[in-house]
Amino acid sequence: MRLRHSKVRRSSPFPDAPTFNPWLIASHTMEEISNQATQVGFMTNQLRRSQRDFDPARDIGEQFLANTVFHPWRAEWVSSAAEYFSSYLGPVTALSGSESQNTRARVVLPEPHQLDMSLSAVLANRKSVRRFSGDPMQFDDLATICHAVAGITHSTTSHPIDGGDEYEVRCRNVPSAGGLYGVDCYIFALNVRHVKSALYRYTPHYHALDELAIDQSVDTLFQCFSGSEATGLNVDKLALVIAYVGHPQKVVRKYGARGVRYLLLESGMMAFSANLAATALGYGILDYQSFLEDRLRTMVQIADKPQYILHMQLLGWPA
Ligand SMILES: Cc1cc2nc3c(=O)[nH]c(=O)nc-3n(C[C@H](O)[C@H](O)[C@H](O)COP(=O)(O)O)c2cc1C
Repeated sequence: MRLRHSKVRRSSPFPDAPTFNPWLIASHTMEEISNQATQVGFMTNQLRRSQRDFDPARDIGEQFLANTVFHPWRAEWVSSAAEYFSSYLGPVTALSGSESQNTRARVVLPEPHQLDMSLSAVLANRKSVRRFSGDPMQFDDLATICHAVAGITHSTTSHPIDGGDEYEVRCRNVPSAGGLYGVDCYIFALNVRHVKSALYRYTPHYHALDELAIDQSVDTLFQCFSGSEATGLNVDKLALVIAYVGHPQKVVRKYGARGVRYLLLESGMMAFSANLAATALGYGILDYQSFLEDRLRTMVQIADKPQYILHMQLLGWPA
């Protein structure tokens, strides 16, 4: 009997494939493990040249992006994420945004308005406003804007992977990575009908404003704005200021440093929702990053906490 020898057919990247280049295996593997050559532990000249040499002081923003690229196959990502679907952590995170704070009083807000301007018209009319009339905001308009930013609109049922009791996650107008809701919405009511001029946190679970036990003058708030005169902004005529406060700890445990990207995205989406609602109601709104964050964090008493003011918006009737 004659033995027939047939050639084993292999597909790329085995050595008999025409496109095989053994020197590319190592560098491709390393590129996928990390784009930071210093973390690889094995270096080729080709790989070394493909790396940017980041200066931590100068390039920290870009370095943050480079270091937070998504790597779903990393063991720490899978193991960190899994416990968020368990019966001991899942129900806790579902209550995000309702943590107790040092508050004085709760102002329950009225039901939000139906916005009756078409989306096309809202998008066409949205623009930054810097001159305000000083007229007061209506109480139910404040409720409508808060609802647009962080109001609860629907819920989903979660089934823990360990077989524990199912629980409800109350979801909002604006999406949130993993439903963790790591951005709180602080409201400085400066001139709103029926609302005491004070600093509040919007609590979505109760559709309420919790007045924070913080005594600060409006002048202290205005001192947190930088360069407002140069842009023609008349802060003394504002009705409302919204501050978006990010809690990195709510997201980095699950997502690592990449979670900080999600906080920035979410505050942007919340802020745009405020743009839509304010425009539909006829108010002027300005997205405002020229605030003195250190001063403002001290003012709202989060300077010693791992919480950061990601964004601000100024609202009032246009002049
Ligand atoms: C993230 C962000 C930060 C901003 N910060 C300021 C600011 O500090 N001061 C200001 O006057 N305008 C600020 N703006 C408003 C922009 O200047 C404005 O959106 C831009 O000039 C385009 O004009 P428009 O909004 O009318 O379309 C900011 C806008 C964004 C999105």
